[in-house]
Formats: sequence, structure tokens, C-alpha cells
Amino acid sequence: MIDSSTYEIDVVKAANSKINGVNFDDLQFGRVFTDHMFVCDYIDGKWQKPQIIPYGPLSIEPSARVFHYGQAVFEGMKAYKDDLGAIFMFRPQENFERINKSAARLAIPEFPRDYFFKGLKTLLDLEKDWIKVGLGKTLYLRPFVIATEPAISASPANQYRFMIICSPAAEYYAGEVRVLFAEKYSRSADGGVGFAKAAGNYAAQFYPTELAKKKGFNQVIWTDANTHEYLEEAGTMNIFFRVNDTLLTAPNNDRILDGVTRKSVLQLAKDYNIKHEVRPISVKEIKEAARNGNLKEIFGAGTAAVINPIAAFEHADDVFELPKLENSYASFFKDKLTRIQHNLADDPHGWRYKV
Ligand code: COI
Repeated sequence: MIDSSTYEIDVVKAANSKINGVNFDDLQFGRVFTDHMFVCDYIDGKWQKPQIIPYGPLSIEPSARVFHYGQAVFEGMKAYKDDLGAIFMFRPQENFERINKSAARLAIPEFPRDYFFKGLKTLLDLEKDWIKVGLGKTLYLRPFVIATEPAISASPANQYRFMIICSPAAEYYAGEVRVLFAEKYSRSADGGVGFAKAAGNYAAQFYPTELAKKKGFNQVIWTDANTHEYLEEAGTMNIFFRVNDTLLTAPNNDRILDGVTRKSVLQLAKDYNIKHEVRPISVKEIKEAARNGNLKEIFGAGTAAVINPIAAFEHADDVFELPKLENSYASFFKDKLTRIQHNLADDPHGWRYKV
């Protein structure tokens, strides 16, 4: 492990900032990027000295393994600014651990903790003006690793690039989401990479999600690959159901992403004595609960999406519209979480990380 006190990150500043051309009140998720990016290469069996350089195109050989075998993992994190200008992240240790778990599953070398945290800090110090004050205003951070070694044999690379790019962001979905429960396609399988934030997990969802869009739904809720009888996750978010006053979510396994927002919602449910069960949830029970009026809400939880209500779901040509609630669990958890993230509420679990 390298001690961050003994090295400096090389910083090359952008000649001009793009910030004045950005309308922070009208941001489409993930379309605008800040002035700088963090870059660190893995060569000769070790991570080299990291750099922060102006954001811009990469020069990578077309034979780089990432293009052929998808050896790539990523993370999603956010930075927040409070009224006094202090900058915070939310549970970044979780993202650090998860990117290395994802990396291990894809035979990518572990990234050093010091590099990760010092890289984030140096980058956020440079980009602090891109983080705006106000609930819902965030800087989305995208750490990722790609296999850069030029070699088209199907085996792990000997060269990688770890990067962090930043994008000022509002929420991922512009409003309520209509979902379709998967009946044919699967996102992940037992023993696979569903738990990892592997790039290919997302590409594999695009085609079935496009089919869902043609039917008028924005997203697919993935079911277990073996039977399609149990509800797992939405691919861009973990998923929660409220039946009467009980909150339900599927247990983590090797098919489901271990979401930071998911685990924070479960902790808040404990803190506020909201009945909750983490157990397999069948399509049948949710359809029955919808038919007899006991299904009050479905919502997604994720870093990009935060907490996003689901307006309707479809399965086997049955469409269920969900009621609009005054006091929804979705708005309760969103309020509690975002207030902690923006330093507007107590943080009893120490989730806030001052940068
Ligand atoms: C996140 O929530 O940060 C993700 O990585 C999901 C992605 C679809 C934006």
C-alpha cells in the first residue's frame, strides 16, 4: 500500500474552464463534464503515479482488450456542497470497496485506497465551483477501470487505466418511472457478475429495455434468471415494494448489486421503526397485493436515481397503476437521505465524508 503523504498527484490544469457555458438549472444526466479528470495507469505489475489532467479524449489502441472483452468496471458517487461551501461525499468507503470487489471478479488488479481518496480530494478541490448548493444539486463522480493492453487474446490484460470523471447532475430520471417485470430476458445469473458494477451488465440490458420502451415502459425490473418468478433489481436502481406498511426488498446475492442507497434505506427503516423485510419477493404476491389494494408503492433506490417512485408496472399483459400517496415512503426516505447528504440533518451513522 502506498502512503499518500509520500507522493503528490501531478496536476496539469485546464487552460480555460467550460463552467460559464453550463446551465446548472437545466442539466441532462451525464452529458456535461467538468474541466479535469483523474488518470492512473497500471503497467509492469503496479499502479503508476496518478495524474489529474484536462478532461479530454483518450488515445487507446483499437486492440485494447476493453473493446473486445469488456474488461471494465465502474462506480457511481456524488459530491454535495452545504450552505457554507463545505464539500461532502456519501459513504465513499462503500464505493471504494465495491469497485475493488467488481475488479476482482473481472480479474482486474485492486486499486490502492490512498490513490482513490487522494485522487477524489484533489479532483474535488479543483472542481469545487462545479458543485452547486441546494437539495438535488450534485456533482456525479464516475470512477472506472478499463483494460488498455493492446492484445486481442481472451485473457486478463497486463495494463489498465483507472480514471475518475465528474459531471454536474440533477436526478437520473426526470419523474415517475413505468416498469415492466422481466418474463424472458435476464440481467444476471447465479455465479455471474450481477453483483459487480461491470460495464457489460448495463449493455446487456439495453436491448430488452428498448423493447420495454416500445411498449410504453421506461425500465425493466429484472427477475431471477431461472424461474422469472422473483423480483430482483431494476438495473439502474435497487427496488423496494411497500405492501400495506411493510417495506420489502430482495436479499443481496451474486445477481444483485449491493447498493449503497439500498443499504442506507434499510438502515433508515430500522432507525424510524418502519417494518421491513429483506426476502425473496414473488411476482405473484406483488400482483395479488396490487389487485387487492395492498400494494401502496414501488420505488427504486440508487446513487444516480436517488429514490425514484414507480408509477405503474406490467407483467404478462396485466398493467397496474400505482396509487399517488400523500405521505409516501419514497418521499420520506428521499427527504431523510438527501438532507444527510447535503449536511442539513444529523448524521448518526457517520455516512457523510467531509472532503
Ligand atoms: C449509479 O446509480 O450511480 C449508477 O451507476 C447507475 C447508472 C445507470 C447511472
